[in-house]
Amino acid sequence: MIDPKQVHATLSRHQLVDGYPVVLDLEKSHGSWLHDSVSGEEYLDFFTCFASWPVGYNHPATCDRDFLARLQRAALNKPANSDLYTQDMAAFVDAFGSRVTPPEFPHHFWVSGGALAVENTLKVAFDWKAHKVGVDKVNDGNDLVVLHFRQAFHGRSGYTMSLTNTVPDKVALFPKFEWPRVHNPTIEFDLDGGIANDVEAEEARACGEIEAAFERYAGRVAAIIIEPMQGEGGDNHFRPEFLQKLRDYADRHEALLIFDEVQTGFFGSGKAWMWQHHGVAPDLAAFGKKTQVCGLYAGKRVDEVPDNVFVRSSRINSTWGGNLVDMVRCHKFIDIILSENLAENVTARGEELVAGLREIARERGQFSNVRGKGSLVAFTLDTPAVRDGVLSKLMEKRLMALAAGERSIRFRMPLVVTAEEVGTALERIADCVPQAV
Ligand SMILES: Cc1ncc(COP(=O)(O)O)c(C=O)c1O
Repeated sequence: MIDPKQVHATLSRHQLVDGYPVVLDLEKSHGSWLHDSVSGEEYLDFFTCFASWPVGYNHPATCDRDFLARLQRAALNKPANSDLYTQDMAAFVDAFGSRVTPPEFPHHFWVSGGALAVENTLKVAFDWKAHKVGVDKVNDGNDLVVLHFRQAFHGRSGYTMSLTNTVPDKVALFPKFEWPRVHNPTIEFDLDGGIANDVEAEEARACGEIEAAFERYAGRVAAIIIEPMQGEGGDNHFRPEFLQKLRDYADRHEALLIFDEVQTGFFGSGKAWMWQHHGVAPDLAAFGKKTQVCGLYAGKRVDEVPDNVFVRSSRINSTWGGNLVDMVRCHKFIDIILSENLAENVTARGEELVAGLREIARERGQFSNVRGKGSLVAFTLDTPAVRDGVLSKLMEKRLMALAAGERSIRFRMPLVVTAEEVGTALERIADCVPQAV
C-alpha cells in the first residue's frame, strides 16, 4: 500500500491533483465522519462526495454478509447490463422502479455518470419531438433546441456543455450549440424563511424570455430542462408556481419537461425527488450521484410517439448500461434509507441546520439568504473573497463544505446525520463566519 503521506505526490506525477488535502481512509471513516489517513484527524463531512454519498461511511447494515457476497460477485465480473442480464440487476431495477420512482413513470434507462444521464434525457426528447414534428421536417434533428436556464449546471458532456453556464472555464473553448437560455427567477429568503425579493417580477421576466424563445424557435423546442433547485449555480430555489408555468409551457408547445435531479434526487431533499415538494411532475427526470448508478425515468407522455426510444432498439444505449456494483450498492441504500426512515431524519436535521444558521445570522453573523431542504442547505456571503475565506476556515475547523454560485456556501449532509452533528457543525460555522461589529 502507498504511504498516505505519498498519495498526493504519487498522483501528481500522473495527473492533475486539485482536490482536498486529506486522504480518505475507507476503513476508519464512519457515518458523517471522514477519517484522514495523513493526519489521523476526523472531518465532519457535509460535502459527501458532491452530494453523492447518501448513508455515511461504512453504514453498519453494509456489513451484512449476504450483501457483501452480492457485492463481491458483482465486482468480480462486470456484465454489459444493456444486453446481458443478471438476477442482481433485476432485483435492483425492481426495487428502484417500484420503491423510488413514482408509479406514473414506467420507463428507465441506466448509464454511468450524471452528465450522460442528462444527455440521454435530451436524446429521448429530440427523438420524441422529431417524430411529433415529422422526421423529414427537422433537418435530421439539427433544427431542434433545448430551452434552459442561466446558472444551470447539467454536466460537461457534448450536449450538456451547451446548457451548463455557471463558471465560464467549465465550457469555454469547447464547441457548443446555441440553444435558448433564459432568466432563472430564483427566490431570496429573509431570515424568517419568507421571500425577500420580488420573485413574481423575476418570474414575469423569465416567462417573457420563454415566450420569445418559443416564438423564435417555433415547433423546434424539444424540451425545457431545469434543476428543481440549481445546485452548483448557487442553490437557487424556485417557486412551485413557476415550475407549474414550465409544465404548462411544455404541454402547450409540445415539448418535454425535464427535471435534472442529479444533485437533488434520491432523498437528498427529504423526499425521493425534489419535484415532489413542488407537486409539479416532469416528463423525464435525470438522476445520478446518490443513486450510484445514474440514469433517467420517463412518464407516459413519451408513449404518445409509439416508436419511442424505449420501444425501438439502439436509439439510446451504452456498453455497460450502468455498473452492476453500483446497482447492488444502490439496492442496499434503498433498503437502508426506507427501513431507517432516513428521509424523515434528514428533513428534521435540515430544518435544524437552517434554523440554527438563521439564528447565527440574526444575532451576529454577516450572511444572508439561508435556505435549504433536507440535506441541501446553503447561505450567502457578501463577496466571493469572503466566501472563499469562510470555506477555508471551515476546513481548518474540520467541517467540509462546498462553494455554490459566486458567493454561497452549500452543505450536503449525509442522510444519517444526527442532531448532535448538526449542533457541532453550527458551532464550527459560528466560529468561521464574519461577525457583525
Ligand atoms: C444538476 C447536475 N446535473 C448533472 C451533473 C453532472 O454529473 P456528473 O458529474 O456525474 O457527470 C451534476 C454534477 O454536479 C449536477 O449537479
